Parts: sequence; structure tokens; C-alpha cells
Amino acid sequence: MTQPTSLSSGGRFSEPTDAFVEAFTASVNFDQRLYRQDIQGSIAHATMLAKVGVLTDMERDAIIQGLKEIEAEIEKGDFTWSVEQEDVHMNIEAALTAKIGITGKKLHTGRSRNDQVATDIRLYLRDEMDRIGAELTRLQKGLTDLAVKEADTIMPGFTHLQTAQPVTFGHHLLAWNEMLQRDYERLEDARKRVNLSPLGAAALAGTTYPIDRLQTAELMGFAGPTENSLDSVSDRDFAVEFCSFASLLLMHLSRMSEELILWTSAQFNFIDLPDRFCTGSSIMPQKKNPDVPELVRGKTGRVYGHLMSLLTLMKSQPLAYNKDNQEDKEPLFDTLDTVQGCLRAFADMIPAIEPKRDSMREAARRGFATATDLADYLVRKGLPFRDAHEVVGQSVAYGVREKKDLSDMSLEELRQFSDAIGEDVFDVLTLEGSVAARNHLGGTAPDQVRAAAKRAQTRLRQRG
Ligand code: ARG
Repeated sequence: MTQPTSLSSGGRFSEPTDAFVEAFTASVNFDQRLYRQDIQGSIAHATMLAKVGVLTDMERDAIIQGLKEIEAEIEKGDFTWSVEQEDVHMNIEAALTAKIGITGKKLHTGRSRNDQVATDIRLYLRDEMDRIGAELTRLQKGLTDLAVKEADTIMPGFTHLQTAQPVTFGHHLLAWNEMLQRDYERLEDARKRVNLSPLGAAALAGTTYPIDRLQTAELMGFAGPTENSLDSVSDRDFAVEFCSFASLLLMHLSRMSEELILWTSAQFNFIDLPDRFCTGSSIMPQKKNPDVPELVRGKTGRVYGHLMSLLTLMKSQPLAYNKDNQEDKEPLFDTLDTVQGCLRAFADMIPAIEPKRDSMREAARRGFATATDLADYLVRKGLPFRDAHEVVGQSVAYGVREKKDLSDMSLEELRQFSDAIGEDVFDVLTLEGSVAARNHLGGTAPDQVRAAAKRAQTRLRQRG
């Protein structure tokens, strides 16, 4: 016998676990990060056990005192984690018994590691989700502030990555903000299903002790207890939901990254990113690479992968708890770390974007971005839209040959294609005229952008 408290060294076991199997089945190397939540849950459990008379008040106090000391030791780095004790739960319980003696062995009354681990993950995830929500809010604040500043800045809007119509840079930034707004709402919604206490489900069927699940739920700040003991110990769809939120968020951050990368290139030249978000090349001295957005775009892959891992992990599991569930942690933890890192990088970087307004404007001017405006003008002069489309097509072809934007052409040049064109055409051919004309809810007119940014900022301020 190696360790008297190890699970497989006594009781029904006639030989110790194979050393490789012990290491293979252990989770302590990655689940030790749940120590705080594990202790929080144990304190709630012991408090409740004393309240219902299963523990004496003295036993409860000794347990709580011991757990707090262990927490302090872990925090200081004075705690030795042991693979023989398999996971965070057994490590802490064994340390408690070593510290306070036989009373430590009473903590696990009316509880199982199955409901314990489900509780720990929910507590941990809930805290992390709140931090993620705060960071997402910081990013959205930066975006909407920048949108206000850039409400009048003209840039080309694209379809098929070809210049389509002029838009304002502020409008483009607010499009990003809408994506993130939906992500935030998904996060909030998923939190409701995370924030329920499975403690008391015990191994799978509940327990014979007179436990009070409402009390433990309340002590841990949960909205209430989960309904069904079998479901409580086996459900991990709250983690799947989180990873699905994370995948959509990273999808959005990746799209934003892609645009930032394009815009910093010499070919677009729309923005500059401060040097602190970039690195140089070891061989090409002229290079300044947009590493942060590239890395965020790259990290999207692992987050999608973790979503797929968890979905596959859960797909064929019979009720109730299976050891498979131990595999939920690494994908979830890595998703959390990745999301935190990406959001922090973005929240720092977005307000630091340096727009190159002249260059954006020039790109909009060069790309015949006001062609639709000319067509709409001709329709107002009485041409059917299809004929107007044809006239504008000819004007653009002429502009390509002569290397002239529509707004650079003289009235005589424009009238070659239709005599419906008059002096007032230049009001619609300017970039400012074009964006200002799209003056309705959701449109790119600077006044609309300012109003939309204001609404977005109000929504952000109302967050809890
Ligand atoms: N380390 C385990 C996990 O992460 C804890 C629960 C173990 N329960 C059991 N019956 N083996 O899922």
C-alpha cells in the first residue's frame, strides 16, 4: 500500500493501480486551476451539512478553517499536487485530512466528485464569463468612440472586395459593433444556464442525507439548483454553449482581423497600427507586420476545434456521469484563455487605430463609387432604371479609358451619354453627397452614424 488515502489502494481493490494507468487517468495537472471553486463549493457544502445536523458546528469550523489554509498555501505556491491523488478534489480532501484529521474525512458526506466537479466547472466558467463580458464591453466602448470620431470619414464600401459605394469609416466600425453586440447577448443568455447549482445530485441519484440544495445554491451565488440529479452530473451542454459563443466571437474577431490586415497593407493603406501591436521581420528591414490581428485570425481555428471536441465528447454518452467528462476541461480552459487574450488585444488595439483619411477618400474616389448615385439621379430625371444603368456603364467605361472618376468629368463629357444630365448632377457625384443621401435608419449618412453610435453607447452604459 502506497498512500492510505488513495482511492484505489484500499477498499475493494486487491492491487494498486498500474502506474501508467494512474498517470493516464489523472486530471490534476489541468484541473488544479479549479481549486478556488472547489474550496468555495466545499465550504458551502460543509456549512449546509452543519445546518441540517449532519456535521457539528465544530466539525464545520475545522473543515472551513482547514480549507482556507489550503487555499492560502496553493496561492503561495506551497502546495504539492500529487498525481496519486488523481484530481483537484482528491488532492484538496487528502490535504484537509492530513491537516485536521478524521473530521476531514466527513466533508464528502452526501456528495460525490460527480456533482462536485460539475459545480466547480460552473462556478469557474461563470466567473470567467463575467470577465469576458467586461472585456467585450471595453472593446465595444472603444469601437463606438472611434465610430463617433470617424462619422464623417469617407472610405469605399465593398462587395466582392470590389469598390461598391462610398460609406463612412464610422459606419463600418459600427457594423463590427453590431456583431459584437450579438455576441455579448449570446454570452449573457448562456450564463443563465451556467448559473445553476448541480450540488446535491451526488453520484447520480441524489443522497439519503437531509441536504438543503437551495441553501448551497444560494451560498455559491447560483440563481438556484438544477432540477434532475442524473442530468446534473452528466450535462456539459453549458460548456458547449460557451464554446459556441466563443466560436462566433472569434469568427467576428477574425473577420475584423482580416480587414485590419488588408487595410495596413501598402495596397490598401487605409490605417496604421501603432508599432506596439506589430513586429518586424528578421530579414526584411522594411517590414512592419500586423501580428496581433494575424494571430487572432489564426487562433480562431483552435476555438472552433474545441467546440467540435466538446460536441463529439458528449454525443454518445449514456446517462449519467462517465469518465469521458473529464475531457471537458482542457478544451474549455483553452477556449477561455484564448478568448481572454484575443479580447484584451483587440480592446487595447482598436482605440489605437490611426486612420489615413486622405487615402481612404482617394480609394473611394478612384473606384467609381458614386456610379449608383448617377443611376439614381437619372431615374429621378425620368429614365427607367435599366436604361440609367446602361448610361452609367458607358460613362464608367469612358472614365476607365480616360482615367477619370465620374466627378472629374465635365458636364459636356457626361452629356455624351444622356442629355437628361444637368448641372445639378455634381451634387450627387461627390462622395459627401453620396453618403449624405443615404439618410435613413441603418444608412451610412454621417448623421445616421452619429445617432447609431449614440444608441450603441446607451446600450453599453446600461450593462450591469
Ligand atoms: N476528475 C474527474 C472529472 O474531471 C472528477 C469526477 C470523477 N468522478 C468519478 N466518478 N471518477 O470528471
